[in-house]
Amino acid sequence: MILIKLGGSIITNKEKPLSARKKTIDNLAKSLKKIQEPIVIVHGGGSYGHYWSVKYDMHTKEKKYDLRGVAIVKNSMIELNKIILDSFLKNKLKPYCLPPTDFMAGNKPITKKVREIEKISKSGLIPVTFGDALWYGQNKTFILSGDKIMTHIAKILKPKLCIFALNEDGVYSDLKSKELIHELKGERPLISENKMDVTGGMTRKIEEASKISKMGMNVFFVNGNKPERIVKAVKNRKFEGTVFRGK
Ligand code: IPE
Repeated sequence: MILIKLGGSIITNKEKPLSARKKTIDNLAKSLKKIQEPIVIVHGGGSYGHYWSVKYDMHTKEKKYDLRGVAIVKNSMIELNKIILDSFLKNKLKPYCLPPTDFMAGNKPITKKVREIEKISKSGLIPVTFGDALWYGQNKTFILSGDKIMTHIAKILKPKLCIFALNEDGVYSDLKSKELIHELKGERPLISENKMDVTGGMTRKIEEASKISKMGMNVFFVNGNKPERIVKAVKNRKFEGTVFRGK
């Protein structure tokens, strides 16, 4: 099974609130069609979920946030999710919508439900889940990042490969020259913070990718604007991007 995160920066235009990059999503769907193994998709919030989370000052910490904000964030994620599902269907994939409430209890994954995700993907359906605003308990809620979902699922299902499709070629050793780091083995690169992101932007992705690779799986960061790179990564062809080597 291959676990793939479609980052918010690739499926939406982060500069413009509530704008999905439909053409890019279609191209990603067309490439995913070429993968002949079970896949599980997680997608981010981009200019949907993040836009509203920032407006309502909601974060990953469990707190009593404005409930209108919770409702609006959830609603916007459903809207973005629907765009992705529609694109998948149009491109002859068989998506199976799976909001994170289906397999999360508070901030913990429900192991039995996560195991079901694998069975669903092996059937030929493609489970599609996403970062979201979630109920925690005692009137508290929190923002669950899609990157965190990647770690939860990877830990339980041990996919053959985890892929993060980004709006960049991978991790750069230097942001100015955009010099790409091809391979990381446990070490963590230093990168600057992205302010607009409530779930931590690139820093969070690197953190989760490091955790997953420490569990023994390879994690690939690839440019989602060149979705054939995802197919190449899966088929073990010449890989363009950054690999977090699993031990
Ligand atoms: C964010 O998910 C979800 C919400 C803000 C509701 P992610 O943190 O995975 O989103 P991206 O990929 O960074 O946009």
